[in-house]
This record gives sequence, C-alpha cells and structure tokens, in this order.
Amino acid sequence: MLILGIESTCDETAAAVVSDGSIVHSNVVATQVDLHAKYRGVVPEIASRAHIENIIPVIKESLDKAGCGFDQIDAIAIACRPGLIGSLLIGVTAAKTLAWSLQKPLIGADHVHAHLYSVMLGPAAQSPIFPAVGLVISGGHTALYRLNSFLEVRRIGATIDDAVGEAYDKVAAILGLGYPGGPIIDRLTASGSNPVDFPRTMLARDSLDFSFSGLKTAVLYKVRGHKGRERGPESLSEADRANVAAGFQAACVDVIVKKLRRAIDRTGAKSVVVGGGVSANRGLRAALARFEVPVLFPHTEFCTDNAAMSAGLAHLYFQQGTFASLDLDAATQSEIAV
Ligand code: KG4
Ligand code: ZN
Repeated sequence: MLILGIESTCDETAAAVVSDGSIVHSNVVATQVDLHAKYRGVVPEIASRAHIENIIPVIKESLDKAGCGFDQIDAIAIACRPGLIGSLLIGVTAAKTLAWSLQKPLIGADHVHAHLYSVMLGPAAQSPIFPAVGLVISGGHTALYRLNSFLEVRRIGATIDDAVGEAYDKVAAILGLGYPGGPIIDRLTASGSNPVDFPRTMLARDSLDFSFSGLKTAVLYKVRGHKGRERGPESLSEADRANVAAGFQAACVDVIVKKLRRAIDRTGAKSVVVGGGVSANRGLRAALARFEVPVLFPHTEFCTDNAAMSAGLAHLYFQQGTFASLDLDAATQSEIAV
C-alpha cells in the first residue's frame, strides 16, 4: 500500500511516498532555511508564501523519485496540526484537493505524533517494546509521552516555556553563530574542552515538565555580561565560544536524560523512542547509548521535519479504517491527550 504524505506545518515544504508504514520510496524536503536565516527564526508570513510556491513542485518530485503516478497512490496523508496556521493551511488545502480530485482517502496526522513514529522509517528501523516513553525534541516542541502502542499515546510532560531546539537557536544567535543553531552548536561542542557550568532546571522533584528559558538567559549573561548588554559575542575567543556551547549542550543533555529516567520510573516503560530535530544531536545520542532501556532514534534523514513520518503513521490509520473527511481543519495545537 502506497501513501503520499504532505508536510507544511512550519518552514519545510515536504512530500514523501511510503509503503507499508516503513519503506520510504521518496522523501523530498524543500527547506526555507535561507529565507529565515537573516531573522534567526521562522517568519510565519514568509513561510506561508514559500509553501505556496513549493508545494506542487515538491509533490511532483516525490512521485517522480518514487517512480509512481497519482493512480498508484492509495491514500493522501497530511500533517494537519500543530504548527503555524498559515503554513498548515497550504498543505491541508493541497491534500484535500488531491483527495477530492483523485477520489482517494484522506488521512490527517498530528505532526508531533508523527515525529514519534519516525523511528519506524527506513531499512534500519526497529520496533520499540511497549509500553514506551516517547520524547519529542524540536524547534517548536519539547514533550514526553507514554505509548502503549503507536496509536495509544498520552502526553505526560511538556516544556513550560521554550522548546529545547528554540533554546539552541537562541544560544547560537547570542554567540553570533548562524541559523539553525542546533547543528552548529552540536559541532562546536566537540572543541569545548572546558565546558562552562550552566544551571540545570529540573522543576519540582517529580515533574516531567521542562524549562529552558533560564538556561538561555544564563548563557546570555555569561556571554554578554550584566543584563546581556555589556559586550557582544566578538569579545569571545574561539575557545570561549566552544566552552559556552559545550556547557550549554551538557546542561540540555543532562536535563533530558534525567527527565527520561523519571518518565521510565513513572511509567514502567521498556524502551524509549525519540523524534524531532534535536534527536539528531550527537551529545544526546552518546549520552543515551548505554541507557537502562533501549533508546531508538530516527535515521538522521527523518529527525527534522519531513512528510515520510506522517505517511508512515497514516498506514496505521489506514489499517484501522480511520479516515478524515474533506472538512478536515488545520489546527495550531496538538490533540494528543494528557
Ligand atoms: O523537528 P524540526 O525540524 O522542526 C520542528 O518541528 O520544530 O526541528 C528543528 C530544530 C531546530 O531548532 C534545530 O536547531 C534543531 O532542531 N536541531 C538540532 C540539531 N539538528 C537540528 N539541535 C541540536 N543538535 C542538532 N544536531
Ligand atoms: Zn517538527
């Protein structure tokens, strides 16, 4: 069974053709990074306009690369929440139009839920042992889940302020580095031989929530002095910059690992699945390489936003006969229950 997935929740326009929930025949992503880089973050209006330009060529390219036509597609899957409303509407409208004109079933997927499913994509994919703890760490989301299966998911914790990827992007900006900041800081960390000691925000003793805004401010004050206004990032040597990056990454990784441990204690989980852009992080992968339970990461290609993860998750909905109607709405919030 072939499913065409479409993704436009934030700043990547993507389409993919996936069969049987894990065989990825094509995975096309038109990134808008260059358009947003000078603003050091996603500008919603620019993102929506770029989706309009990209969506049809990206869908066509995904079919060409998969070597199939619309007639061979069994269903259209769309990430219809959560995200930026203007961005979501472009993908949702394209998916509904295709489903209606081709008379194919439409399947709506939650983007965060699809990030959790991304460990199942590609030839190296392994199924988690359930119950599992799910961790989504990206530019827009940082949350923990309990999974009894890929279709039975509950949220058990979430950030009370910034997402961890957002903190990476802000810290890169504070250090005068490029955008997106995650991969740059991850690389720089390797040369930080004397990491700065930054605070770890754990919240209440038993809390599964996260907070990264205090850490971000601690980095700002360290780099730029009192109230973040005394000096610029140019005052730092290369070694200072690497030590700040390494200290920041160590603080993020420490908090994530401790919260995962709490979540496993709370749920009795037998494995962990991780998804979202920050799941590409080498420091986190190294820290979780010898964890108490197996930790599954997506192949790097499927960490950041893509449409294959929604097409894969949609396979499960197809099997249980869960389809969307043509009045499917885009929504800014995830609907995964607490
Ligand atoms: O999943 P994603 O593409 O978009 C959202 O759903 O938000 O995640 C993008 C985020 C960005 O904040 C980026 O800086 C971060 O993922 N990221 C990383 C790494 N690669 C991407 N953060 C830390 N280490 C990385 N290697
Ligand atoms: Zn995402």
